[in-house]
Amino acid sequence: MKIINIRLVNFRNYERLNLDFNPTKNIIIGENGEGKTNIVESLYVLSLSKSFRGSHEDVIIKNGCESTTIEGTVKDKHKDKYKLVLSKEGKRVFINNNKIDKISDYISKINIVLFTSEDLKLIKDTPNTRRKLINIELSQYSNEYLKLLSMYNKILKQRNAYLKMMMFNANTSRSYLDILTEQIIDLGMKINKYRIDFINNISKYIENNYYRIAKKHGLVLSYKSDFSDKTKDELLKAFNKNVKKDIQQGKTNIGIHHDDYVFELNGNNLRDFGSEGEQKNAIISLKMAEIDIFREDLNIIPILILDDLFSELDKKKINNILDFISDDIQTFVTTTELTKVDKRLKVGSKIFKIKNGNIKEEYYE
Ligand SMILES: Nc1ncnc2c1ncn2[C@@H]1O[C@H](COP(=O)(O)OP(=O)(O)OP(=O)(O)O)[C@@H](O)[C@H]1O
Ligand SMILES: [Mg+2]
Repeated sequence: MKIINIRLVNFRNYERLNLDFNPTKNIIIGENGEGKTNIVESLYVLSLSKSFRGSHEDVIIKNGCESTTIEGTVKDKHKDKYKLVLSKEGKRVFINNNKIDKISDYISKINIVLFTSEDLKLIKDTPNTRRKLINIELSQYSNEYLKLLSMYNKILKQRNAYLKMMMFNANTSRSYLDILTEQIIDLGMKINKYRIDFINNISKYIENNYYRIAKKHGLVLSYKSDFSDKTKDELLKAFNKNVKKDIQQGKTNIGIHHDDYVFELNGNNLRDFGSEGEQKNAIISLKMAEIDIFREDLNIIPILILDDLFSELDKKKINNILDFISDDIQTFVTTTELTKVDKRLKVGSKIFKIKNGNIKEEYYE
């Protein structure tokens, strides 16, 4: 899968920008704050309809403007034109000029594996952040997953609202709560299965990837859930046991909305014991495992984005990471200085030099 070009209108610091990309390697150079991450962010937003930065969706609209447009042509089996328009009123998405009404039918047709320093949150942050980030990864593999998750969240909201009503009002029916509970369990079991399968798939590759990068064994990514290894009957019992507490607190105390993922190196949780470098290498091993799954299981070669990787790791590790980047994968790399980029990556790459919002393009020879 390759992204051929991109056209931005009022995106972040760019009023108008048209870029034609190299099908193999692309390097974006510029000083801090010049707009390097903004360019790779636009590719990500075109794919997933959301940014990986900022909590409000409209932060990507150029200051003082009403809306932003991102357009790009992607070549896979055939060439398709993708377009996303975001304004303060909401977003619209198009494939080959046809409006797609449901965002979930649009997301993840362009498959991107991204590494950014934000990804360290996967280890350092709360279970909630980890769930959100893994959901994004998982929804790239399965559209069905995304739909199940949005149904689950809807029913969960309804159940919590009903629990609050029960807390204040005796005139509610237990049988309606039971219906919502059963729906939560059915959807939760399906989501749990997707998550187990995903982690099992990742596990086929992640340990070996970590070894290739850091020359150490023992990296494990595990998944913790109330739902794992439980039958529907057992879950019904567990929900029943909690129902008093649920009503008292007006919230659902068990469910896949409490799941968590843990990175461990030889039994030690990397969140508490890992150095910055170890945490970064673990995340990169995960990202490379995602590429492995795309390739092996789905027969897709995703687009790889490495945002500011080179300022963060030592030369040896970078070299080991470069071994993962085969010629058939389109790669985008951002950096403040070309000297930080390994020669292997530079040769044959297209270079985009940003200065004061202007971009100069050249090929490295
Ligand atoms: N909505 C917006 N409208 C206008 N400018 C914006 C908007 N959002 C961000 N910017 C500008 O974009 C710039 C940051 O761009 P970006 O994050 O791409 O920099 P960078 O080149 O990746 O820098 P670094 O090397 O520090 O990572 C900032 O100068 C910021 O003011
Ligand atoms: Mg940046």
